[in-house]
Amino acid sequence: MAPRKIIIDTDPGQDDAVAILLALASPEDIDLLGITAVAGNVPLPLTEKNARIVCELAGRPDVRVFAGCDAPLARKLVTAEHVHGKTGLDGPQLDAPTMPLQDQHAVDFIIETLRSEPAGTVTLVPVGPLTNIATAFQRAPDIIGRVQEIVLMGGAYFEVGNITPTAEFNIYVDPEAAKIVFGAGAPLVVMPLDVTHKALTTKPRIDAFRALGTKVGDMVAAWTDFFERFDMEKYGSEGAPLHDPCTIAYLVRPELFAGRLINVEIETGSDLTLGMTVADWWRITDRPKNALFMKDIDAAGFYALLADRLARL
Ligand code: BDR
Ligand code: CA
Repeated sequence: MAPRKIIIDTDPGQDDAVAILLALASPEDIDLLGITAVAGNVPLPLTEKNARIVCELAGRPDVRVFAGCDAPLARKLVTAEHVHGKTGLDGPQLDAPTMPLQDQHAVDFIIETLRSEPAGTVTLVPVGPLTNIATAFQRAPDIIGRVQEIVLMGGAYFEVGNITPTAEFNIYVDPEAAKIVFGAGAPLVVMPLDVTHKALTTKPRIDAFRALGTKVGDMVAAWTDFFERFDMEKYGSEGAPLHDPCTIAYLVRPELFAGRLINVEIETGSDLTLGMTVADWWRITDRPKNALFMKDIDAAGFYALLADRLARL
């Protein structure tokens, strides 16, 4: 089968970085058309820069990186330096990138790509707040029917929330954008905290990255060491969730994941539960099923895939 054409929409973020690396390490499965940066974990000037740093780390300065929206649709930006550090990619110091940022706005790139590629052949992989994708859908509704699939990291049901008691970070930062994307009607696969909190970076798993003996392996080990401190303290778990690469792993090995096709709505009205993904897991309502909402992951298989693929870079 031909590799799947994808656009990664991202706010790197150490786990975003690993998602980008996994995609670049999987050319037989994934054709990365471009990376679109959005404000999220840190402000836009850092996320677009971090995306380029990651491409250069992978030896791929040819990848096109676009800067997109610098603020959510209707709210002030909330960032997550407390998890990812001041730069968003804290850990070992990395050189400033020399590869260029593309002139085109990320939203225009998304619209143009979906219009120019054959309908149903481009998959969107958002792993940050959904501002760029929602803006593209609002500005060019004709592209929605051309999307092959949206495979995103965001939301939670059984795990409820990480940035508030009831909301996951990516959805919370721009709930209005999430509402547009979840309501758009494009095929949607969701990797919520219910999955990613089962994909923990244990010591043997980090050691396996370090044992690759490559710059990429060392960097991924150091990144996961860095952001793991925060989550281990918070959850008392043996490691931290590696959220965003679950999306790429799904495209490469969908059988690693299990979930249900259900209705998922986004809360935008309540202060208390703002950004909650109200997932009808038990199919209590007859609201239309709009998302394949994942719940389980073969974590050992996921980490084996990561180590195996990252060894190529
Ligand atoms: C999500 O929020 C970000 O901090 C991570 O990069 C991930 O995309 C997890 O809630
Ligand atoms: Ca992210």
